[in-house]
Amino acid sequence: MRINEIRLNNFRNYTTLKMRFEKRINVLVGDNAQGKTNLLEAISFLSTVRSFRIKDETDLIKKDSEVARIEGLIASPIGEKRLTVMISQTGKSLLIHKNPVKRTSEFIGQCNAVLFTPADMDFFEAPPKVRRRMMDVELSKLSPVYMENLNQYAKILKERNTYLKQELPDIEYLEVLSDQLVALQIPIIESRREFLNFVTKRISALFCEFMEMDFKIDIQYESEIDDTEDISRKLSHKIAASLKRDMAFKMTHVGIHRDDAKFTINDFDVSSFASQGQKRMLILALKMAILEFIVSKIDTYPILLLDDVFSELDSKKKEKFAQLLPKGVQIMITTTEINEIKGWPANETDVFLVKNGIITPYKEDYR
Ligand SMILES: Nc1ncnc2c1ncn2[C@@H]1O[C@H](COP(=O)(O)OP(=O)(O)OP(=O)(O)O)[C@@H](O)[C@H]1O
Ligand SMILES: [Mg+2]
Repeated sequence: MRINEIRLNNFRNYTTLKMRFEKRINVLVGDNAQGKTNLLEAISFLSTVRSFRIKDETDLIKKDSEVARIEGLIASPIGEKRLTVMISQTGKSLLIHKNPVKRTSEFIGQCNAVLFTPADMDFFEAPPKVRRRMMDVELSKLSPVYMENLNQYAKILKERNTYLKQELPDIEYLEVLSDQLVALQIPIIESRREFLNFVTKRISALFCEFMEMDFKIDIQYESEIDDTEDISRKLSHKIAASLKRDMAFKMTHVGIHRDDAKFTINDFDVSSFASQGQKRMLILALKMAILEFIVSKIDTYPILLLDDVFSELDSKKKEKFAQLLPKGVQIMITTTEINEIKGWPANETDVFLVKNGIITPYKEDYR
């Protein structure tokens, strides 16, 4: 998958931007606070219809402007696909070509991008919801059905939790809601397990190659039900057994909204065992394993967005990382130091200077 062009209007610190990506590797170089991450945020927004940095999307609108617009031209076998997002104070609208799209699930994944950001460094220490979100974001991009199930599950869960707060909730009605929750979460659990199984198989090899040492990396899907047989019946049983507790605490204790992915390195918990550098490399190996999962599903690599990926990597690791990147993938990479990309394939690389919301070709010879 390739993005051929991006256009921005009043997005963050960009007033207008029109930028073509002719080469496979696009390096965005510039000092701090010039707009490098903002550009990756715009591309990522086209992919996931959310910002990886903020919740309140009106912050994406350029100060003193009314509407932010992101437009991307995505290469496809039948010509370019035009994706547009418009964000205003009252909400956002999505268009494919010029047609408004009602359901976010129809838009997500039309542009499939995988992102590395320095905030990912907290991934292993973060609360379970961060690791759930990683699975859900990647799977939603690949399947509108997955996303619809997830949304529906969230809706019914909210309804059940609200209902639990009533004085005397009707048990039969709670059971109806429980049954709906069980039915909705089975395909979600199956998809999450399949995703983690695939990623687990690849991540050890990638990490060992990166570290040039042998390690065993495991990822376990952690949920109320450990095995994969007859989960519907077992889940129903667990939810029924939790009814008293749910009523006492006025919340739903059992379900995919509590699940987690547990990462171990040589059978130790990554968060307490791995060094900072190892964690960074493990995250990069995870992202690359995700690229392979996506290619196995849609036959094309997603776009890889790398924000500030080099800091904390020693020079040998930087070189190794460049070698490990799959050859067919389109890459957008930010850096403050042009020297970081010495040795990257020049014929496949364009370098751009980002300065105060304006992007120009980088003129100086950096090799
Ligand atoms: N809504 C907005 N309107 C105008 N400017 C904004 C808005 N949101 C952010 N900015 C500006 O964008 C700049 C930050 O851009 P960005 O995060 O892309 O920096 P960067 O080039 O990635 O820097 P660093 O190297 O420090 O990561 C800041 O100057 C900030 O004030
Ligand atoms: Mg940045």
